[in-house]
Amino acid sequence: MIARANGNHVSITGLGWHVPERVLTNDELAGIVDTSDEWIRDRTGIRQRRIAAPEEAMSDLSLAASRRALEDAGVRGEDIDLVIVATVTPDMMFPATAALVAEQIGATRAAAYDLSAGCTGFMYAIAQAYGMVAGGLVQRALVVGGDILSRILNWSDRSTLVLFGDGAGAVVLERVDEGGFLGFELGADGAGGRELLLPSSGSRKFEDSVPPYLTMNGREVFKFATRVMVSSAEAVLEECGRTVEDVDVYVPHQANVRIIDHAARKLGFPDEKVVVNVDRYGNTSSGSIPLALADAAGDGRLQPGKLVLMTGMGAGLTWGSALIEWTHETNGATA
Ligand code: ACO
Repeated sequence: MIARANGNHVSITGLGWHVPERVLTNDELAGIVDTSDEWIRDRTGIRQRRIAAPEEAMSDLSLAASRRALEDAGVRGEDIDLVIVATVTPDMMFPATAALVAEQIGATRAAAYDLSAGCTGFMYAIAQAYGMVAGGLVQRALVVGGDILSRILNWSDRSTLVLFGDGAGAVVLERVDEGGFLGFELGADGAGGRELLLPSSGSRKFEDSVPPYLTMNGREVFKFATRVMVSSAEAVLEECGRTVEDVDVYVPHQANVRIIDHAARKLGFPDEKVVVNVDRYGNTSSGSIPLALADAAGDGRLQPGKLVLMTGMGAGLTWGSALIEWTHETNGATA
């Protein structure tokens, strides 16, 4: 789907983030599987990632990020009437992690549900929340994106273990007088679903020998990523009547520095417009884009009036872009 925003202006009015304390370096990984700091940095740009403590679950990361987002927006939990948590690693299949978060922040009037679209989850969730706020179904939405992928990785598979990390970000969406979201482009290609999946994790029976670990055809996902990161960004810009030159801040999904560089080069973004934090966090799936937004806010790049382009991609295979004219005076610290 592709759509230009029309009618009411809706924007991000609060931004929060949270990552686990534990830093896991490439050298430490080299003590677990047959890999090296050099290989990981060369192929991915990743230097380290955060790993959740055994007792930490997705709702814990979400809650900490949400509290910061609420504070940044200057609103209370009871002011929120929609909570969406975009994740593929909820605390459990049900109750929804969003319902647990809603309860803990005191959002007693809120509808709350989880959303599954792989690493693109945050993009899908903000598009949904935008629609509900703009359409008047709700006044104020809290959208969390995050994952604890370390729980679903095969810790003896070097080809996936080195790529991912844990973390979450959260945003508050509400109506504003001007600016805000300009448009969205979202898509899915189920035929490519087999290239990135979590077998034995739902009602589909797999052979007994297939364990429930993230399984990925890295080369195919790489090809897909380099294609859609460009096509989706171009599509949303065209729909909104804007060009790459108009964009001040480019926030791509943080999967791999080579994918980010390729997309930035093809689109024509100079380095100073591109937000990169995959070196510090690895691929945090749905946490990737909100954590990168928090980074950009922290270093002063997200000022009111700035045009921000976000593009995500991930399991499904899915992709999604959003274009927003930033309206919020962020006071969050660097993620
Ligand atoms: N350390 C050392 N060697 C390794 C490692 C490792 N961690 N992993 C793989 N290798 C080896 C392979 O076995 C292979 O060896 P061989 O040539 O002897 O067979 C060699 O390195 C090259 O492997 P490739 O897979 O060809 O390496 P490539 O350059 O393609 O990089 C990578 C692999 C980084 C996974 C790349 O394909 C990639 O980034 N893919 C996209 C992944 C991605 O973005 N996934 C997230 C999607 S979003 C979501 O929803 C989760």
